[in-house]
Amino acid sequence: MNKNFYITTPIYYPSARPHMGHAYSSIVSDVIARFKRLDGYNVEFLTGTDEHGLKIQRAAEEKGIEPKKFCDEISKTFRNLSKILNLSNTDFIRTTEDRHIKSVQNLWKILEEKGEIYLSKYSGWYSVSDEAFYSEDEIKEENGINISISSGSKVEWVEEESYFFKLSKWEDRLIKFYEENPKFILPKSRRNEVINFVKSGLKDLSVSRKSFSWGIKVPNNKDHIIYVWLDALTNYLSALNYPDLNNTKYENFWPADVHMIGKDILRFHAIYWPAFLLAADLQPPKRVYGHGWILSGEEKMSKSKGNILDPLEIVDKYGLDPLRYYLLKEVSFGNDGSITQEKLEDCINSDLANNYGNLCQRVISFNEKNCSLLIPEKNKFVKEDLIILNKIADRAENLRSNIDNQELSLYTNFIVDCLFDANKYFNDQEPWKKKSDIKRLNTIVYVSLEIIRKISILLNPIIPDTSLKVLKIFNIKQKDLLFESIKNHESLKPNDKIKKIDILFKKVEKND
Ligand code: MSP
Repeated sequence: MNKNFYITTPIYYPSARPHMGHAYSSIVSDVIARFKRLDGYNVEFLTGTDEHGLKIQRAAEEKGIEPKKFCDEISKTFRNLSKILNLSNTDFIRTTEDRHIKSVQNLWKILEEKGEIYLSKYSGWYSVSDEAFYSEDEIKEENGINISISSGSKVEWVEEESYFFKLSKWEDRLIKFYEENPKFILPKSRRNEVINFVKSGLKDLSVSRKSFSWGIKVPNNKDHIIYVWLDALTNYLSALNYPDLNNTKYENFWPADVHMIGKDILRFHAIYWPAFLLAADLQPPKRVYGHGWILSGEEKMSKSKGNILDPLEIVDKYGLDPLRYYLLKEVSFGNDGSITQEKLEDCINSDLANNYGNLCQRVISFNEKNCSLLIPEKNKFVKEDLIILNKIADRAENLRSNIDNQELSLYTNFIVDCLFDANKYFNDQEPWKKKSDIKRLNTIVYVSLEIIRKISILLNPIIPDTSLKVLKIFNIKQKDLLFESIKNHESLKPNDKIKKIDILFKKVEKND
């Protein structure tokens, strides 16, 4: 069985500081990467920055800084964000690195050699903010300004000599590819959007620009630079040492298992990217997942709207794990979701402090008083014990499939449900009333500890630091964690010492 897994985040434009949307794409990818590692996979997890194109050139000009210098600065803040978010990425790519430039130019040459690229003239609409070409029916006029209907960003008229990729030729082949790979695009609703778009007819795609210089040069024609999306998408290959197809990284990890992206960049990933790859005789990725937007109220969080919740400030104020958990819990994965500080605070108090935190504290302090901080000797499990123990064990295959289908809300909701059941189990079993039946008391404590262990493993991809704090009471280390062990009801060894823990989550004081 192939135990390699490759997941990527979008590479971020370093045109401004990172915001919550970026943090979201990265955190959800990290949850999947971490889960797969727990499940014994060798995971390659890539993130990085997308540094070329007119958008970046203009942002640098505004600051009066040379583009490379400008990118060096902001790219650092994204690299830093990966650390602050505790991402387990194995690589961080910048499109200004030599390894990437070489890879893009190579892909270009292959496309050219195969007759997939030709020189002509582009006249049409272009949005610098989206770095996207739009046809006449995709734009409208608002207050005297032409904007893209889908993104709302300003478009400008472009007329210049340009190379074109023969995208139109790939229409039927793409449709066939989507049909043969029904889960290539998820969620399903987005798949339908893409198929309808392709069926409505594809035009050849302009893949070079002449009127500015910040980008990778077209081999053999230095007047042109390569379209920033052809450049950017290739990062997923550059990180695997493409064009060397015989190196182990490429052999192990291509085609990618998941490109995690926001729904706004689906067209590039689900249409252009597989078309470029098929044209170059390379395999398309196995999955493109277009997640929804993080909204502030009803609006997309964005720099231009000034409604950004700064992930760095939130982490500073509340801690990282609460933010990671909240994003997973609050946003129904695949859909848009609105987040607020107030709801984040409620979530910390109810789910994290009252539910998970409280369960761990009360079971351990009960153990301290009655079992001297030792794993107790258990007696035979009774029906109530087995119900809760099996609930998690029996769900293992489903949980695996949830992650493999990016059903992150199903995964998270199951944990919430288990936490509720675990607290209820402890309440209902009333071990404090069992002092005359010490065997039963010990068994209840044993089961409760096993449940804490299992739930902490399930939570580990979402809140790695806190769950590990809990697992450390059993002396379990991150490197020893195995998802499969949630099936085991008797992994804790009687008479082993357990440790006490500090408060896991501080409750947020609320004024109301
Ligand atoms: N550079 C391109 C991606 C190239 S990938 C080969 C890009 N960069 S971006 O910085 O503008 O956006 C990166 C990701 O952040 C996108 O997936 C986008 O959907 C996501 N988000 C940006 N704002 C967002 C929200 N408000 N909510 C959720 N994600 C959104 O596009």
